[in-house]
Amino acid sequence: MAQVNTILVVGAGQMGGGIAQISAVAGLNVFVFDVLAEQLAKCKKLRTKLFDRAVEKGKMERADTDAALARIKYIRSLDDVRDVEWVVEAATENPELKAKIFSDLEDRFPNPDVVLATNTSSISVTQIGAAVARPERVVGMHFFNPVPIMKLVEVIKGLATTPDVVERTIALAIRLGKTPVLANDRAGFVSNRVLMPMINEAFYAWMEGVAEPEAIDNIMKLGCAHPMGPLRLADFIGLDTCLHIMNVLFTELGEDKYRPCPLLKQLVIAGRLGDKTGQGVHDYSKK
Ligand code: CAA
Repeated sequence: MAQVNTILVVGAGQMGGGIAQISAVAGLNVFVFDVLAEQLAKCKKLRTKLFDRAVEKGKMERADTDAALARIKYIRSLDDVRDVEWVVEAATENPELKAKIFSDLEDRFPNPDVVLATNTSSISVTQIGAAVARPERVVGMHFFNPVPIMKLVEVIKGLATTPDVVERTIALAIRLGKTPVLANDRAGFVSNRVLMPMINEAFYAWMEGVAEPEAIDNIMKLGCAHPMGPLRLADFIGLDTCLHIMNVLFTELGEDKYRPCPLLKQLVIAGRLGDKTGQGVHDYSKK
């Protein structure tokens, strides 16, 4: 199995930035592509900050963080990409956008050995694969936030994904310091099939006045040993992403128990998306 030397990450948001960071730490050359200059600048600044913290805490040597930073190239045009052997798409959870990105990627990287992985949290890998002529090289490589800390990569085989591509995905995940676990291509895979209804239920509990958000979070933190309460976690993930995933579960699985909470919908409509907008369930604007 040929070793991957150069990876392209599409999307410089919290997931794409994290994937770029761990790839550079593992010794890969990394291109991070985004159309938004300010997103790339934010991504670069956060990497520097996280590496500085790692050095301060004695977790990494300065020479290693400098080398990792130097391996990451931030680009706004795919014309600047060279010798890519692996792509991870980490763009917004929008099926039309992903179809367009994958079709462009296939045109740009016609070599069938270049794996086209998606970090989608709930869109069908088979559906994303349907946007390209060779869906056998499309695979789900689902990372968790914060990527440098969370150990899991959920590996999802689309209908056409070859066993060889799955095997190479597992090998790369291990090389990136993660534990890969296989899941089938069903709505939400395993992680969000289980996690997101719990978060959605926390919104219902809040809406119905069972308890205030702070209390709901504390009950699940202290009573169930969750590192964050479900409403705090929703802010961390992004309320728009949570709503998107619930919509996929509701549409695909067709059962009432997956109905997105109206309060979650309302907060998204109001633009209260969580950490990224400074306000979601909780208010972060003063922190
Ligand atoms: N990016 C990178 N690293 C981060 C980070 C971020 N945004 N936030 C925190 N960290 C790192 C810190 O640097 C620190 O690292 P070191 O131990 O190496 O110093 C470590 O995380 C612990 O941070 P803190 O001590 O500041 O805070 P904490 O102990 O409260 O932990 C947390 C923070 C790791 C985020 C923890 O609260 C946690 O595990 N929360 C649950 C996260 C979770 O469930 N993620 C999955 C979400 S679902 C998903 O991502 C998939 C999907 O499809 C929706």
